[in-house]
Amino acid sequence: MMTPFIVGNWKMNTSLEEAVALAGNVANAADAAGDAVEVGICPPFPWLVPVREAIQARSVRLGAQDCAATNNGAFTGDVSATMLAPVCDLVLVGHSERRSVHGETDEIVSQKVGKAIDAGLRVILCVGESKDERDAGDAESIVRRQLDTALDGLHAGASGALTIAYEPVWAIGTGVAATEQDASEMALFIDALFADRFGDQGAGVRVLYGGSANTGNAAAFLAATGVDGLLVGGASLKPDDFTAMIEAGARR
Ligand code: PGA
Repeated sequence: MMTPFIVGNWKMNTSLEEAVALAGNVANAADAAGDAVEVGICPPFPWLVPVREAIQARSVRLGAQDCAATNNGAFTGDVSATMLAPVCDLVLVGHSERRSVHGETDEIVSQKVGKAIDAGLRVILCVGESKDERDAGDAESIVRRQLDTALDGLHAGASGALTIAYEPVWAIGTGVAATEQDASEMALFIDALFADRFGDQGAGVRVLYGGSANTGNAAAFLAATGVDGLLVGGASLKPDDFTAMIEAGARR
């Protein structure tokens, strides 16, 4: 069984003071949990450096919420993977809010994955279907398309840098999580896609569930076959809740 990975996606939230305090709290919980669980946090870009200082030598991975599809140039407002690499351990790519609010296509997501891996970052690649797509019975084919495009051209050796977050769009920020069974079925589907694509040379992939994960459902998702952790939005901003979710990860 893979070590559970509990990751907080803070989105566009926190003041500088709140970010540093929250990071300290997460570091305490992560240190207390030890090797039984891996913990990550993804603060907004400007807080990466101060948060990094706050968690130095603590057992928390630092992640950015996005990176650019190119390394440098005339891209006002963008931040490249090569700029993030000296500061962060990992980066979220393809979050549904980037796809829907910023119009990121599967092809753009694929370019970002490539740049992030080339820069030496670990990638949490987010995939997931909309409500209409699930209702139409297309959830697996949508996730397959997202993954096939994002992973196109990636060699097996690079697959170890990837974690997949299955985040059904209709569950994100709505308070309506998927069922553990839905999460488990999709996680096993993703495992099978990886095995098909990378065969024996590929590393087994860790699959996280995300979408209204909270203290009430964390343990059940973590117990679901194929689910290796959680990508947590809203609940990661509440110190006690996120601590409880880290503890649930450590207990698995
Ligand atoms: P949520 O967000 O936990 O607030 O639903 C999850 C995410 O967007 O990663």
